[in-house]
Amino acid sequence: MISIDTNKEKFALTTPLYYVNDLPHIGSAYTTIAADVIARFQRLQGKSVLLITGTDEHGQKIQRTAEALGRSPQAHCDEVSAGFSQLWQQLNVQCDRFIRTTDPRHAAIVKEFFQRVWERGDIYLGQQKGWYCVSCEEFKEERDLLEGHRCSIHQRETEWRDEQNYFFRLSNYQTKLEELYQQQPDFIQPEIRRNEVLSFVSQGLKDFSISRVNLDWGFPVPNDPGHTLYVWFDALLGYVTALLDPDNEPTLENALAHWWPINLHLIGKDILRFHAVYWPAMLMSAEVPLPRRLFGHGFLTKDGQKMGKSLGNTIDPVALVNRYGSDAVRYYFLKEIEFGRDGDFNETRFINILNADLANDLGNLLNRTLKMVYKYCDGKVPAVVGAEVAADHPLKAIGVTLGDRTSQSYQALAFSEACEAILALVRMGNKFIDEQAPWSLYKRGEQQAVEQVLYSVLESVRLAAYLLSPIIPNVSGAIYQQLGFAVDFNDRSLIDVSLPFVTHATWGILPGNQSLGDAKPVFQRLEAPEAVI
Ligand code: MSP
Repeated sequence: MISIDTNKEKFALTTPLYYVNDLPHIGSAYTTIAADVIARFQRLQGKSVLLITGTDEHGQKIQRTAEALGRSPQAHCDEVSAGFSQLWQQLNVQCDRFIRTTDPRHAAIVKEFFQRVWERGDIYLGQQKGWYCVSCEEFKEERDLLEGHRCSIHQRETEWRDEQNYFFRLSNYQTKLEELYQQQPDFIQPEIRRNEVLSFVSQGLKDFSISRVNLDWGFPVPNDPGHTLYVWFDALLGYVTALLDPDNEPTLENALAHWWPINLHLIGKDILRFHAVYWPAMLMSAEVPLPRRLFGHGFLTKDGQKMGKSLGNTIDPVALVNRYGSDAVRYYFLKEIEFGRDGDFNETRFINILNADLANDLGNLLNRTLKMVYKYCDGKVPAVVGAEVAADHPLKAIGVTLGDRTSQSYQALAFSEACEAILALVRMGNKFIDEQAPWSLYKRGEQQAVEQVLYSVLESVRLAAYLLSPIIPNVSGAIYQQLGFAVDFNDRSLIDVSLPFVTHATWGILPGNQSLGDAKPVFQRLEAPEAVI
């Protein structure tokens, strides 16, 4: 259970709740890794953090998948949902809440919320005619379809529906939504997504149907059980149910008491409309305050091609993490792809980047420096006071502003920018040690100069490890331990006590005379596999 420290600033963030029609996809792993990196960064900053993820288990898509597999929907959901949970552990994602929309407490929250919207007069019965994509669980405009009434996202044929549905009066919220986007320009990020939403809304909002007939797998509409509630209406509310403490009675009041409003919904660009238009309108209708910010990231391709089962080129995140480990997978996706843009996975590039950045630049720098410290300085951090090192020292000059710069990048979710800035310090460390040649200084008996050089390099590696720790917590922990700190970046309960940002993100805090750990490679070089993932 998460204890809430009332003195601390709170930060709650969500990943989408993933459909359980299939095993976890690399796209879901991408969002979840990014969310964990943000959560870890916020914890370093001393905030009380709640990272919410989970699974979206109702609807036609899942019902049909279970039927095709000859299973009951619930048994199917139990199995696939457990696979998601396990993958997050393998990827070293520390989620605080894992909500399943089949959780009985969720039924109570959805019912109460529906009631509020109903009483507001925003729900009515009408006739729904249109093309439905079961894979998207969404009605499509005819103009957005490909030839043969196929969905442009899944390339699958949509289905014609002509049935009575309950509708949500989205059209009532046209002006209020437009005001929201104007008054809170950072509500939807990045800018390109915001513009997409503005353009969609400017075409005029139509009411959307929030119930289905001929579907059992979902919640019955409270006042008309012949209808089943639309999966998206139910799923978005999973973000609210997730906020309940385990022993809370499932009421909206309890759920919204501590962590609401959510600080950040992290999503992929394909589900922007649901989060940026439908969701705030639903919340306005129920008179619930709005989340603070949404960020829609880009799509991943493989070797430059769109991924898909039919193309036979999907990436299995489980195989990837089993082969290369969690830090490698986390680093590649966040360093290599500018968050917000589309990006590509290529295994050769994966191996090259990891070897260049983590094995060579960072790992070797630490390893060779530590060996020199053992040789020339008795295995202890040289007795140099960081604060007394000249301000124009080439490493200190970069190091003193790096914490602030990296912090800004993390806050803007510019992860690759953060990595580049940190790696620039590491590369400068390598250059500096080569130029200064402490082995020659030692031979010439210039012990003080040797100590200055080695201290400044060790301190730069420490700072780099600290600032990269949200992304590569295991490698960062190994570096810290070799530098003589008894800490673990995976221990959530101790982070703000033992590793606060205000202290550790500054250059010059490595204590002189601290005993060092054994020098071991912190990141094993990756080898190209025989079979490609
Ligand atoms: N169940 C809904 C979300 C409900 S949230 C209340 C859903 N689930 S999903 O499993 O289909 O998709 C989850 C996320 O995976 C989305 O953010 C989507 O953008 C992301 N990705 C799916 N394929 C992707 C790529 N190829 N690349 C990157 N992310 C992609 O939608």
